Amino acid sequence: MAGGQLSEYITFTKDKVEVKLQEFVSNLSAPAILKESMLYSLTAGGKRLRPVLVFATLNAFGKKEDLGLGAACAVEMIHTYSLIHDDLPSMDNDDLRRGKPTNHKVYGEAIAILAGDALLTNSFQLLTDFEHEDITPHMKIQLLTELVKASGTEGMIGGQVADMQGEQKHQQLTLKELENIHLHKTGKLLGFCVKAGAILANASNWQLTLLDEFSKHLGLAFQIQDDILDIEGSEEALGKPIGSDTENDKTTYPSLLGMKAAKEKLAYHIEQALESLHKANVQGGLLEEICLYVAKRDR
Ligand code: IPE
Ligand code: IPE
Ligand code: MG
Ligand code: MG
Ligand code: MG
Repeated sequence: MAGGQLSEYITFTKDKVEVKLQEFVSNLSAPAILKESMLYSLTAGGKRLRPVLVFATLNAFGKKEDLGLGAACAVEMIHTYSLIHDDLPSMDNDDLRRGKPTNHKVYGEAIAILAGDALLTNSFQLLTDFEHEDITPHMKIQLLTELVKASGTEGMIGGQVADMQGEQKHQQLTLKELENIHLHKTGKLLGFCVKAGAILANASNWQLTLLDEFSKHLGLAFQIQDDILDIEGSEEALGKPIGSDTENDKTTYPSLLGMKAAKEKLAYHIEQALESLHKANVQGGLLEEICLYVAKRDR
């Protein structure tokens, strides 16, 4: 797939990932209600940004996207589980996700929790079962280790806890604290996607380091825009409620810095991401387009 047309590339990615995810979950031997609840959220229409990042990174190294299908689906399962749990009454207590009632609104809290658990646990199965002639056992272990680190205590889960503790403080966090939350709750999983593509493409260590810098800035930019959209976005386009952060009295980039400075920060991180990408010396046309998309997205 040639670079230069991100929207076509997103459609291409969605098609591949959605077929694989449906096939994988449908074939699991599990209670029907559990599979239904998993598929409900998995197929509700996410942007598939994480799979797109895996594929676009492979593309930047001149590799075929098929190589990354296992990693792309696994990370999308983990991301979807994190959203199901994030929306629960005990967390953000939201009723709408991906344009549909949240999982617990349809299946009840117990099944929603278990569907999240299953998406997490079985993501590792999908990753390790995925076969491709260019994927070595060593690569699979590297991918698994990175996925665990990105999603677990040192990654997304740690970030979600810090996010909630921040809310409970009932005072504004410092920029440093907020940045740290964003880097973990959102940045680590996005970072995994780029790293997975790079590992599968046999990237050099110096390239991995630069791509990690790229992901950190991209992750911050992505979450800053998420915060901005919670204020300026439209519920219809986003497919999730707006105003949830304000209601929960959260420190966000706009609440801490003001809207204008939040937007400047977003632009700064996009600039830094692009700089790291250029230094990594890859054919990063699609990754560049992703940066611009993240800064301007309305959903
Ligand atoms: C939403 O992620 C949660 C955050 C990490 C901010 P996305 O905006 O990527 O959600 P989907 O996958 O498109 O629904
Ligand atoms: C949640 O961040 C990120 C994860 C689910 C890890 P938010 O709570 O800001 O995400 P949205 O706005 O509900 O999508
Ligand atoms: Mg949240
Ligand atoms: Mg939320
Ligand atoms: Mg949000």
